[in-house]
Order: sequence, then C-alpha cells, then structure tokens
Amino acid sequence: MMAYMSVEDYQGILQGFLVGLVGAKRILEIGTFTGTSAIFFAHALKRNGVKGGADETGHKPIITLDISEEFAETSRQNFIEAGVEDYIEVLVGDANEIIKSLTDITFDIAFVDADKISYRNYYETIVNNDMLNKNGLFIFDNTAFPLDVPTDERLISTKTAIMLHEFNEYIRKDPRVEVVMLPLYTGITLVRLLH
Ligand SMILES: C[S@@+](CC[C@H](N)C(=O)[O-])C[C@H]1O[C@@H](n2cnc3c(N)ncnc32)[C@H](O)[C@@H]1O
Repeated sequence: MMAYMSVEDYQGILQGFLVGLVGAKRILEIGTFTGTSAIFFAHALKRNGVKGGADETGHKPIITLDISEEFAETSRQNFIEAGVEDYIEVLVGDANEIIKSLTDITFDIAFVDADKISYRNYYETIVNNDMLNKNGLFIFDNTAFPLDVPTDERLISTKTAIMLHEFNEYIRKDPRVEVVMLPLYTGITLVRLLH
C-alpha cells in the first residue's frame, strides 16, 4: 500500500505530544488511510488517562473520516491489532458531507489530512460551527507540499499546490486565529483559535 500517505513516526510522536499539551479528549481526523496517525493519537489519549468507548456524545474519543471503504476496513483491522479499537470510530464517505452531521460536537484537535482542495471548506466548517474547543488546535498536513514530487506516482498537481499556498495565505491573514507552519516533512500547520 502507499506508505508515503501515512504520517512518519516522528510526526506521529509530535502529534501525540500535542494531545498531551492541549489536554485533548476528543479528536476529529479527516483522512484515515490505514490508520497510522489515528493510532498515534489513540495511544496519546490512553497515556493521558482518556478512557475508550462512547462518551456523552455517543461517539468514541477519535472520529476519523475517509471516503474509501477499503481504507476504512483496513484501518479498523489495524486498530484492533494495535489494541485501540475502543478509541477510534471510522465514518465512511466524503468528509465535506459527513462533517455537516458532526457540527454539534466539539473537539480538542482537528487533524486535516485528506483532499487538499477541501482544506478551506473543512477549516470554515469547523471554525464557523465552533467545533473546536477554546484551547483547541488544528493540525493541517502537507501544507508546504512541493510542486514536484520525486516519486513514480505524481502525488499532487501544480494546481493543488497553488491552492494549498492560497489556503496558507488565507489562514495567515485570518484575524480569528494564530498560525505557525512547521517546515517538517511536507509542512505541518498548527492553528489556534483566538477568542
Ligand atoms: C494522506 S491520507 C491520510 C493519512 C493518515 N492521516 C495517516 O497519516 O495515517 C489521505 C486520505 O484521505 C482520504 N480522502 C481523500 N478525499 C477525501 C474526502 N473528500 N473525504 C474523506 N476522505 C478523503 C483518502 O482516501 C486517504 O485515505
């Protein structure tokens, strides 16, 4: 399978560290793939004393969305193997649609790692519907994706790279938030809400 789609180990460790830093209890992930990043998040929640199973919202602590039933099924198997199935719920479908049904839930971390064309829509939906808690954090992946990717398979089109640049510019100028881009891997952007 396309291993390059998953977070690298050190990025997973960093994201797990952020779970503890913001005291996260509920996480929304957009883009599950085979579940690597969700497993890092689940272990971090466990380390920080968060219990598995459904809470008062009726959902497990991590809700992760993927458009592919095949990836969802693979990730569910991986969650069982990793012993974190009580922590992670996979919802299948276009995240642009599913997210509309989650607007009454608040999250401490929203990790956005799916179709780059929709980053702006995910951002606006989450901010405008108060889906992030006061000390909540967005993590956007691949925000500094290079125009030319040195792999056999072309990962991203020039158009998408330009769109990501426009997204970066938009959030950088948005007075509602504070933004820091980490020049790690293909770019990780952290966004904190200003209240
Ligand atoms: C980079 S991978 C996610 C990797 C995962 N977060 C990790 O690090 O282990 C992106 C995933 O987003 C999914 N995806 C793409 N467009 C989507 C959409 N509109 N809605 C939901 N999922 C989507 C793809 O099927 C793919 O599995």
